[in-house]
Amino acid sequence: MSDSEGIEKLILSRLSDFVGYSASTSPDTLEGKVDVPLDRVIKLNANENPYGCSPGVLRALAACTDIHVYPDDGQQSLRRLLAGYTGVDAANIVAGPGSNTLIDFIVRLFIGTGDEVINCVPTFDIYRFSTQICGGTLVNVNRDAQFAVDVKAVKNAISSKTKLIFLATPNNPTGNAIPQKDILEIVETDLPVVVDEAYYEFGGETVLPLTASYQNLMVLRSFSKWAGLAGLRVGYGVFTPRIADRLMSIKIPHNVSVVAEIAVRESLADLDYLRDRVNAVIAERERLYEALGKLSLLKPYPSKANFIFCQVLKGSASGLYNVLQRRGILVRYFDTPLLKDSVRISVGKPEHTDALISVLREIEGS
Ligand SMILES: Cc1ncc(COP(=O)(O)O)c(C=O)c1O
Repeated sequence: MSDSEGIEKLILSRLSDFVGYSASTSPDTLEGKVDVPLDRVIKLNANENPYGCSPGVLRALAACTDIHVYPDDGQQSLRRLLAGYTGVDAANIVAGPGSNTLIDFIVRLFIGTGDEVINCVPTFDIYRFSTQICGGTLVNVNRDAQFAVDVKAVKNAISSKTKLIFLATPNNPTGNAIPQKDILEIVETDLPVVVDEAYYEFGGETVLPLTASYQNLMVLRSFSKWAGLAGLRVGYGVFTPRIADRLMSIKIPHNVSVVAEIAVRESLADLDYLRDRVNAVIAERERLYEALGKLSLLKPYPSKANFIFCQVLKGSASGLYNVLQRRGILVRYFDTPLLKDSVRISVGKPEHTDALISVLREIEGS
């Protein structure tokens, strides 16, 4: 092939104008765009843990001498560790470099060209991303005005081509959880249902024990948020042993690193510390919610996660985002037909809340 245009012609036609996932802005890209030194930027745009990981993780990683050796492809000790945490058997678990990759492997396992995936929008965009890459058809079912899943509409959307239903609880970016009875009603359709519990530790509601009774229920979790390991990339899912086995067979070999396994081990050995930090985030979430509610600029929605979704009541979300960014505070903004002029603010430390509220008050008064 003599030129790049020739190669481009061979790209799968369904991917030639594929729209990728829009990831959060990294402070590294903000040189010259903010009025504060880059190391003072307050990052409230990716739902990371403002307290970081367990100090035991950092100590163990500094002492690790095994990174020249591939990790166990069968994830045996990692799966045993996760089994201890979740109370299911290791054979039910598959780990991945972030729960994103498990979403992707599940879609690869179930979805071929023309198969339908029910997606309760607005929600986490990776369900769309992986479905479209695999040639599946998205069947979007709108949530109601309070962002609750419309169970009746989900059931009405089921067709003979439906192969997968995604439910995020708490939902990103809206922060609300799905009542267990609603999840159960959808699981009782017997179709494969993925319940994404990436923010479980901040809300405390889980359907994980129900995986013992429902073969079609798959539950995903992450170490990115509660355990402060977003940069290391580790998540896991709970499945029937047969589905876990199939996922293990299609996953990329050695995909969870040696250091990720160490980080999981040390995190689980330091649960009291991590739970204490999670409780601090939950307390701060409630304080932030109250403070945001007192502003006339924003309408915050109650949250069971480590972020708060808000409607922008004056001006545009992009305008607010830009002013906050200039002042060194990063948030996520949305302006789509389903999420008009809204922002998602991650819960930070108390000083981050204070800085944010003070800038928002200034904007309000200007
Ligand atoms: C609902 C939801 N699921 C899954 C993920 C992926 O998390 P990770 O790949 O870091 O485990 C995220 C990340 O933001 C999320 O919001």
